[in-house]
Amino acid sequence: MTDSLLFKTITIRGVTLKNRVVIAPMHQYSAIEGHAQDWHVTNVGRYAAGGAGLVFVESTKVERRGCGTIGDLGAWRDDHIPGLTRLADNIRLNGAVAAIQLGHSGARARCFRPWAGGKPLTRVAAEAEGVTDWDAWERIAPAVSEDGARALTRAEIQALVMSWGQAVRRCNDAGFDIVEIHAAHGYLIHQFLSPVINQRTDDYGGSEQNRRRLLMQIVEEARRFWPADKPLFVRLSVEDGAGFGPDQSVALAQAIKPLGVDVIDCSSGGITGSPVSDTLGYGYQVPYAERLKSDGGIMSMAVGLIVHADQAEAILQNGQADLIAIAREAMYNPNWPMDAAIKLGADINAASTPPQVAYWLDKRRGSGNIVPSTFGTGIDRLSNDGDA
Ligand SMILES: Cc1cc2nc3c(=O)[nH]c(=O)nc-3n(C[C@H](O)[C@H](O)[C@H](O)COP(=O)(O)O)c2cc1C
Repeated sequence: MTDSLLFKTITIRGVTLKNRVVIAPMHQYSAIEGHAQDWHVTNVGRYAAGGAGLVFVESTKVERRGCGTIGDLGAWRDDHIPGLTRLADNIRLNGAVAAIQLGHSGARARCFRPWAGGKPLTRVAAEAEGVTDWDAWERIAPAVSEDGARALTRAEIQALVMSWGQAVRRCNDAGFDIVEIHAAHGYLIHQFLSPVINQRTDDYGGSEQNRRRLLMQIVEEARRFWPADKPLFVRLSVEDGAGFGPDQSVALAQAIKPLGVDVIDCSSGGITGSPVSDTLGYGYQVPYAERLKSDGGIMSMAVGLIVHADQAEAILQNGQADLIAIAREAMYNPNWPMDAAIKLGADINAASTPPQVAYWLDKRRGSGNIVPSTFGTGIDRLSNDGDA
């Protein structure tokens, strides 16, 4: 066995992860009226059984208005709790710690699913799919937007902050151990942070301090309902390409850490263009995680085209992040963590997979002359000749 940081345990507050592989939040667009379905259970289960230390449930909405699509998952009513409990239970049953991201789409609400084009939804299409509350499914923003979203009043902002607290309370009731506040990708909280989008003239707009007020109040409200021994993450677009960049992110992290935030999940984009890059290359957001960790004085999670085991291990060894989040590569290979453990020579039996799987894979590895199907290329294709 070799010493691998990726497969070393890590403890944050009262929660210990068996390794540092995290499955990033990924929308499934498959809920019905916010309720989790069998698909969600299968999906999180296969990620947990693949050996990740932490498995995130997708951006789950704190308000009906916050739903990006008809299929968004919800935590805005108590009757969502049983479905969320099934997800948390299933993640735990399969050996991982259960995490959930909470979000609100703001002006980006009410769209077609990505595979149906992702454009603004129409009332006719929504009603054809059984939506009965089109008018209540309102698009809201910090200030009136060009595309017709309505500006929130101050009273509505206070109610919204309370909705976040109630959603956090439901996630605790459902048995999740980690909650993440989605403050990235051009959605509502990010719209408040943005100097371009947030044109409010009261104390929720204008200066940097005012623009971060909503997030700070949400963090405080979340902490009222989230036990002190459970970690709280925040996802930021550390560089949004529109006036909010690493310097602002570092200052923000320093402001929210004392309020009880433990980890910054370092993403980018969303005000202009897509936050999910296909073109920027391996580990395109790792520099942001490195910057937050070094200058923000807070733990960071790296995400974005982290594809190979040796790549993930190097990010940790170089001190660029504390956690490694995988999204699309885990879709391709839900067993990525156990595959990475074998490639890095880590102890899969103890560190990665449930015994029903680990026992057999360990035994096969012991035979010495079988190379798994995923072997052959790594991030450094020239030097990786594919030997086990
Ligand atoms: C299908 C899909 C759904 C996603 N849903 C979310 C989400 O719910 N919340 C979020 O913050 N990011 C979401 N993302 C972004 C991922 O969490 C991740 O940051 C991004 O895909 C880059 O990582 P990757 O290169 O490993 O895929 C989603 C990405 C994909 C592909």
